[in-house]
Amino acid sequence: MSYIYKIHHVPTSDPVLLSFLAGKFAALRLSALTISAAAFSSTFAIESAFTATAWIARLKRQHVHTFIAVAYAPSTNPEEQTIDAGDWIGSATLLGPSPKAKYHLTESGGPEPGDDLAESKWQMTAVYNSPEHRGKGIAKMLIKGALEFAGAAGEGRSTRVRIMIHPDNVVVKKLYDGLGFVDAGNCTLAEAYLSNFDDDMLPADQGRSNPEKYWSRQGLVMERSS
Ligand SMILES: CC(C)(COP(=O)(O)OP(=O)(O)OC[C@H]1O[C@@H](n2cnc3c(N)ncnc32)[C@H](O)[C@@H]1OP(=O)(O)O)[C@@H](O)C(=O)NCCC(=O)NCCS
Repeated sequence: MSYIYKIHHVPTSDPVLLSFLAGKFAALRLSALTISAAAFSSTFAIESAFTATAWIARLKRQHVHTFIAVAYAPSTNPEEQTIDAGDWIGSATLLGPSPKAKYHLTESGGPEPGDDLAESKWQMTAVYNSPEHRGKGIAKMLIKGALEFAGAAGEGRSTRVRIMIHPDNVVVKKLYDGLGFVDAGNCTLAEAYLSNFDDDMLPADQGRSNPEKYWSRQGLVMERSS
């Protein structure tokens, strides 16, 4: 079956709508953590314990922008292609803008980010598309939607967008290569958690008792400046 696909930026200002959308987001995210467990640093065990209130709070976090890919039946009129209708099939999260002091990974071996007055800095994470809709350019649409938002929000400054991926995830590497992202050093799991606003996933000792897991520099950093 063919579908109409559309990318939406989740609005967070209407509490009634947000409460409904948070339910849809939770279902999509838990399905992603089940189907593609190896791709994410979070787990189904962690997120299936979130309450409805916690899901709402996650979407409302400051500097967190959630993009959703929605599939509509081909007969759906344009005015009916709204975020609360159709099937939610994919998502991507854009974090930022972040100040250089927080964003810069001094040990990564990547280039130094620009000054905050000249450049806005962003991190992308949690890109996902449902298996039955893969290979149709949906992930590209999601990332382009986030890049456009970041570019517009930078208000004339240049834009730096970064992603951290598992080095073995060749599909994602190819996806970002094709969108003009270039290799920009390596990160640790602890840096990935902090950069992805997942600080609460770091153990209380910041992972110092398990440096091999949290502080070995194995993650691949890619970024795109425009
Ligand atoms: C990675 C993922 C988001 C791609 O979604 P998608 O909608 O199928 O991707 P697209 O159709 O937009 O493909 C974009 C590019 O990705 C690459 N790609 C996608 N699927 C691929 C595959 N099976 N093999 C190799 N490259 C692939 C290609 O470069 C493709 O561009 P092209 O079609 O011009 O060659 C999806 O496979 C997924 O959700 N995987 C599990 C979760 C995951 O790994 N997330 C990343 C966490 S960092």
